[in-house]
Amino acid sequence: MAFIFAFAGKGGTGKTTLAGLTVRYIIEKKRLPVLAVDADANNCLNEVLGVDVHTTIGSLREDSLNIIRGGDERPGGMSMEQLFDYQVQQSLVESRGFDLMVMGRPEGAGCYCAANNVIRKYTDKLSATYPYVVIDNEAGMEHLSRRTTHKVDILLIISDPTVRGIRTAKRIEMLVDELHLEIEQRAVIINRATQGQSSVLRKHAEEEGLQVAGVIPHDPEIAYLDLQGNPVFQISHDAEALRSFFSIVDSLHVP
Ligand SMILES: Nc1ncnc2c1ncn2[C@@H]1O[C@H](COP(=O)(O)OP(=O)(O)O)[C@@H](O)[C@H]1O
Ligand SMILES: [Mg+2]
Repeated sequence: MAFIFAFAGKGGTGKTTLAGLTVRYIIEKKRLPVLAVDADANNCLNEVLGVDVHTTIGSLREDSLNIIRGGDERPGGMSMEQLFDYQVQQSLVESRGFDLMVMGRPEGAGCYCAANNVIRKYTDKLSATYPYVVIDNEAGMEHLSRRTTHKVDILLIISDPTVRGIRTAKRIEMLVDELHLEIEQRAVIINRATQGQSSVLRKHAEEEGLQVAGVIPHDPEIAYLDLQGNPVFQISHDAEALRSFFSIVDSLHVP
């Protein structure tokens, strides 16, 4: 069974960036294959990872439905289920050290919950074959309450360097408790902080009763890579953001 990382936090806090760096962490430190899952309909984890996406689960589902609707011949008399399994397998983007599965948007009038259910089902199914899974979730807390996030070993709750960000992180923690989600460890990370903000925000977090696992600085190299359209995955080894993120993950219990 895979060890699963998932992310929560407001939009723009750095979930996708840090999901990409989590993939890099596992490849470098654990040297084992990773399944990266882009569970955000406005996907861009592939850009952070530096790979191209040819199909998404959202569009696959439509394809399969079209086959049923149109009564097209199915290759080799496969059942719908088998065909879909095969298509999902084919849609995985393979790269060095990791594979990527992308939810994407359902085409036409398709429903997001359907694509979500499929993502959940296949994350579970594929968990059997990868030692690590990294799920980049959409912003907000809906995915927690809809439970697209299934069993999770580490939930990384990302905050921006603002008091409101800290409060949102606290609300997410409370929701996790309320919903009795199967989450082994959680870690609140404040991302993009400047030097002066760090201690002030830690103090605010403490007042909210929130334990902060670590702070990641605003890193001009990330901004530069972004601006040039280059994958953040390839950030240099001694980049501040990478080093501080890696030491936070080192402090968690990752087998
Ligand atoms: N530590 C950092 N330093 C500088 N820029 C960052 C940092 N973390 C994230 N960013 C930038 O912030 C923006 C939002 O990050 P992203 O990972 O897409 O957030 P989310 O997935 O939570 O919406 C991106 O442009 C990203 O490059
Ligand atoms: Mg994102």
